[in-house]
Amino acid sequence: MTTGATMANFVGLAAAREWWGERHGLDVAESGLSGMPSVPVFSSGHVHAATLKCLAMLGIGRSSLRLFRRDDIGRLDTDALAIALRELDGAPAILVGNAGEVNAGEFDPLEELADLADEYDAWLHVDGAFGLFARLTPRTAHLAAGVERADSVTVDGHKWLNVPYDCGFSFVAEPERLVKAFSYTGDYLPALDDPHPNFGTIGPESSRRARALATWATLRAYGRRGYREMVEGHLDLAQKLASLVDAAPDLERLADVPLNIVCFRFNPGGEPEEELNRINHRLGEAILEDGRFYVGTTKYGSKTALRPALVNWRTRESDVDGFVGVVRELGAQVVAAERG
Ligand SMILES: Cc1ncc(COP(=O)(O)O)c(C=O)c1O
Repeated sequence: MTTGATMANFVGLAAAREWWGERHGLDVAESGLSGMPSVPVFSSGHVHAATLKCLAMLGIGRSSLRLFRRDDIGRLDTDALAIALRELDGAPAILVGNAGEVNAGEFDPLEELADLADEYDAWLHVDGAFGLFARLTPRTAHLAAGVERADSVTVDGHKWLNVPYDCGFSFVAEPERLVKAFSYTGDYLPALDDPHPNFGTIGPESSRRARALATWATLRAYGRRGYREMVEGHLDLAQKLASLVDAAPDLERLADVPLNIVCFRFNPGGEPEEELNRINHRLGEAILEDGRFYVGTTKYGSKTALRPALVNWRTRESDVDGFVGVVRELGAQVVAAERG
């Protein structure tokens, strides 16, 4: 258990770095990366900023990451990735698959990534911070099919699990590598093979609070069925929001809605793209200033967009109706102000 998905990615990628070192006959945690070739890390354009931060923290370096995009949305170019893996000529690589990206909730094809990892001796790490919850219902489980074949998987607790901040999970198929990466020994500390788990030896922190408690309590209270119902409720709300956006003459949906994020913009018609971007950026600020709803802005390709992500257990249909009303009201005000 970690503080969130960033540190869960850090843990998974630390295990991947150990694995990569072993393939080169070296224990990176012991000897460092000095004198080693750079670590090939490959992903799609859906990769989250947290992965780059982790690569920096792990000494692998942000620029070791190569992205294989087949369009300006960042979808994976599987063929180009396969060619790059082949060109490594048997050298090991780390693949980062993204299960739920932040703009529209899209998924990389994890089965294809797992096949490539098998074929070319690569470690498959999957960042499923919120997207892994797709597995809870048959309606969306297929989106993350193949995640079981990953070597390490990240999930957040403080997103769709709805526990308070400071909660993420890192699942690593071969946890011995974590002991190598995070080994922490001393005469006054438990032995590494102590039968009682010692989390200080498998993660970055040595002392930590009992963050399992909130997770344990909520899983006991709601269980798999409770979470499945909540996720399905959010899927319904996301579809409802998408249909309200589609029906509104001044709103434009920019992406499909495979999961819980609806990517759209305010578009009253007749405005050039640059002006629309300015309007939507200003609208994002106006929504936050207004305070009735909280939603972030993003770039979807070259378009500035809103990207409401439905994860809170208290969100209801009336909130979705209210949100659309507020976006249209503030959008009209922003346009009026821009036109002077
Ligand atoms: C896909 C993905 N990965 C990683 C993160 C980082 O998570 P955290 O803020 O919990 O460290 C997020 C958070 O937005 C995310 O959506």
